[in-house]
Amino acid sequence: MAYDLKDRVVFITGASSGIGRACAVAYHRAGARVAAAARSADKLETLASQLGDDRIVAVPMDVTVAADRDDALRVARERFGAIDVLVNNAGWASFGTVLRIPQDHVDRMISLNFAAPIAMIRAVLPEMLERGSGQIVNVSSVVGNQPIPRMTVYSATKAALSALSTGLRMELRGSGVDVLLVAPGSTNTPFFSSAATVDAKATRLAQTQHTPESVARAVLTSSRRRRSEVTLTAEGKLITAIRRVSHRLADGIMYQVAKRAMPVSTSDDTQPV
Ligand SMILES: NC(=O)c1ccc[n+]([C@@H]2O[C@H](COP(=O)([O-])OP(=O)(O)OC[C@H]3O[C@@H](n4cnc5c(N)ncnc54)[C@H](OP(=O)(O)O)[C@@H]3O)[C@@H](O)[C@H]2O)c1
Repeated sequence: MAYDLKDRVVFITGASSGIGRACAVAYHRAGARVAAAARSADKLETLASQLGDDRIVAVPMDVTVAADRDDALRVARERFGAIDVLVNNAGWASFGTVLRIPQDHVDRMISLNFAAPIAMIRAVLPEMLERGSGQIVNVSSVVGNQPIPRMTVYSATKAALSALSTGLRMELRGSGVDVLLVAPGSTNTPFFSSAATVDAKATRLAQTQHTPESVARAVLTSSRRRRSEVTLTAEGKLITAIRRVSHRLADGIMYQVAKRAMPVSTSDDTQPV
């Protein structure tokens, strides 16, 4: 049975920019009530005033901070009631090899891309289970299906989110709570300019025609159809399919993609910064 989004309460992390912002607009247009969360209060307020009605609330928060999560969820519940749909979208990347990226970037990616989504899920799941209905939407990445060198740690956090989604879906079978894993391919958002890099050339992966609005459309359709997984972009689908047949071939392709997109010499990769 389709999931009707009208009047649902949708909590979206990373809603100040890119895919999260586009998802906030799309869910709002579908008639949902949206709690838009991120650190940039000004951007959230602009979004709320652009949408311009009482079905959107800005909830400034750092999703890695427990007190912020509690406050933001309290504000959303006071305004709209229990959360129906959680979109774990906030994310960040540091480009560079496992050896070269700073440890604090490793910690930040694990905390934001993986630990925070778990904490958010644990905070909203009881109310969903009580009502026998709800959706958890986790925004992973194609590189969570097939890692890419010089984005290995980021890829690993997304692969962890993917495994979390699969296991959680099995744990929740029959409960009425859906788990949707979304794996976007390279998308035209501030993601690449916000990323940290130990190699200034490592941003050419950003060249893409795919828009955050197209990702948001796929999220909305999948949410309505209660799909469990969706991988986006033709290249993303292709590399994911190739990996199922031959991980060696998929690794070879991604090695070449990284070599072209992030042109550093191999000796640089093994030199600590
Ligand atoms: N763009 C791509 O090519 C691509 C491909 C695959 C997957 N993804 C994934 O898609 C998701 C959205 O990325 P995007 O492309 O839309 O990038 P983006 O435009 O840079 O958006 C990232 C969002 O995360 C928020 N954020 C960052 N740190 C936060 C924190 N500590 N607490 C709360 N919010 C935080 C940012 O808002 P504030 O700075 O205001 O906090 C922003 O709204 C990410 O999970 C990313 O890994 C992106």
